[in-house]
Amino acid sequence: MSLTMTLQTHTPVLIKESIQALQVQPGKRYIDCTIGSGGHAMAILQKSYPQGQLLGIDIDPQAIKIAAERLNNYSGATTLVNDSFANLENICTQYDFYPVHGILLDLGISSPQLDAAERGFSFQQDGPLDMRFNPNRGLTAADIINTLSENELAQLIRKYGEERHSQRIARAIVQNRPTATTLELAQLVKQPLRGRRRRIHPATRTFLALRIAVNHELDNLKAALSQAVKLLDFQARLVVISYHSLEDRIVKQFMKQETRDCICPPEIPVCHCGHVATLKLISKKVITPSHLEIASNPRSRSAKLRVAERIRPK
Ligand SMILES: C[S@@+](CC[C@H](N)C(=O)[O-])C[C@H]1O[C@@H](n2cnc3c(N)ncnc32)[C@H](O)[C@@H]1O
Repeated sequence: MSLTMTLQTHTPVLIKESIQALQVQPGKRYIDCTIGSGGHAMAILQKSYPQGQLLGIDIDPQAIKIAAERLNNYSGATTLVNDSFANLENICTQYDFYPVHGILLDLGISSPQLDAAERGFSFQQDGPLDMRFNPNRGLTAADIINTLSENELAQLIRKYGEERHSQRIARAIVQNRPTATTLELAQLVKQPLRGRRRRIHPATRTFLALRIAVNHELDNLKAALSQAVKLLDFQARLVVISYHSLEDRIVKQFMKQETRDCICPPEIPVCHCGHVATLKLISKKVITPSHLEIASNPRSRSAKLRVAERIRPK
């Protein structure tokens, strides 16, 4: 399949809302921390070009290739970096990209990743149990399920998948290992849940848990958020789109905390933390896709967009 065919498969989510939230203006500097197929990046460039600059990051080398081809017409205004957004500050230092007028994180997985059986993200198609956003680095999902103890596995599935039946699932996995493929795992997860009514596919939560663990998604998100705030110029915007409750909770709590001057526990009478507010919330209510967007792109259905603005000149 050609790159051009592959890159057409990811439909950017909440595109109008995110560009509006970022307040993209000509001549300013933006970071897309999760460039994917470049859908959001393209919209940012269309509004900020020709003097504007975009730094696009993705941990997946294949995404960088797709984005480079897609954004070819804007190559003079675009810098693409294959790295984790957990290294945001270092990347900005290395490319002298500071201060920044808007930062976007569109978290999770892209359609090209989900739809490629060989990446191992999907329980609908058979492939190796990989699930690494960067297929050249780190442990695979197979490494994890074939080596953790039953208890460790149960904890992981409960913590990251919020799966009530994690213990039964972990037992089934451990009793049948080694497991090498996505369909084998999906089949194993189904067995202990037989007869239980669920709105979602029985493997959904277990696959999500493994993906989060393989890619250290929650730790990377926390690291990126605290670095992003330091890079934002006065009145610049931080926009985050998340797709599951654990991510959204981190974003919500982070933004809330950054609106406060003191974050000492309430029982401490005098402030010890010295924390000063850095953000104000632009929309207290989370922004979600319209019915129309969900109908035309069902993968957008769980998206939640939060936006905050840098309040203090540094
Ligand atoms: C939902 S997609 C982004 C889609 C993109 N906004 C577009 O319009 O095509 C999420 C992307 O984030 C990337 N990603 C996930 N974790 C990352 C990390 N720690 N650092 C950088 N990129 C990451 C994934 O590889 C994936 O390409």
